[in-house]
Amino acid sequence: MATLARSRPPVLSLIGNTALIPLHFPEADRTLYAKAEFLNPSGSIKDRLALCIIEDAVQRGVLHEKSIILECTSGNTGISLAMVGAALGYRVHILMSESASIERRHLIRQFGGEVELFKPTNGYATGIELSLEMAARDPNIFLPRQFENPINARDHEEFTGREILSQMEGRVDAFVAGYGTGGTLTGCGRALRATNPKVRILAMEPAEAAMLSGEMPCCHSIEGVAGGYVPPLLRHAQLDGAIKVSSADAIAMTRRLSREFGLLVGTSSGANIIAALRTAVEMGPESRVVTILCDRAERYYSTKLFAH
Ligand SMILES: Cc1ncc(COP(=O)(O)O)c(C=O)c1O
Repeated sequence: MATLARSRPPVLSLIGNTALIPLHFPEADRTLYAKAEFLNPSGSIKDRLALCIIEDAVQRGVLHEKSIILECTSGNTGISLAMVGAALGYRVHILMSESASIERRHLIRQFGGEVELFKPTNGYATGIELSLEMAARDPNIFLPRQFENPINARDHEEFTGREILSQMEGRVDAFVAGYGTGGTLTGCGRALRATNPKVRILAMEPAEAAMLSGEMPCCHSIEGVAGGYVPPLLRHAQLDGAIKVSSADAIAMTRRLSREFGLLVGTSSGANIIAALRTAVEMGPESRVVTILCDRAERYYSTKLFAH
């Protein structure tokens, strides 16, 4: 996002600079600060990643008329790549686990992207291997490599993290977020730590797949995070710890965010709020804890979140 092309299509200018909203939880007497990433134009934090990686490839002359942008993604990155690809005129092909919600496939196709499903026998790793095999066969394929591309974390450091610092007037005591690629935690963590070395950087992870806590991954319902794989980017995150949140608690809190706060967000947002609230309770009433509302709820209609 750093060097904006003058001719950038208007929809892409809507990415980033999202609001940071205070949310008060009276039962705990704590106020959390939540970055409203669901306000990005395709509805999730992943718009930032799609834009910075594609613009970088354009600037390096890697993309051309026949290029195919190919990525393995549980959904949000696919929607964002399809949106940015549509705006810039590139073909986008998405490899998606069969377990990802059907709404995501529809949204990608609505942007003109192609979707190919795979059986997640080994979590994300299955799809990543498949994408590497396809790229080895077709020279027109461009791989954004969201799980290892350092631009992912760098963009969060330069933009998401600095936006948070400016919106919080430089005072952040803890940052809590889930991880998919680890880009958000690593990048925001770096920006926040550069201002306050004592800031706590904490990962939210599903209780059913608490790999950072040394447990085996299993099925969970917090889509978009912890795909059974600790991504390479996360190794640089300098985490202070991980907070486990169960899928049932995440769903309950996500519904509460809609009913009591009017926020129509996805399940990982509820999970992040629970983890952030626990952190704020532990750190005291004056603590300033920031978290992320990652995406909009409309991509979860067919999931447990709407089963009521
Ligand atoms: C739905 C969703 N998308 C994206 C992210 C962030 O992922 P990443 O680690 O890839 O930056 C999260 C993390 O909480 C998420 O829940």
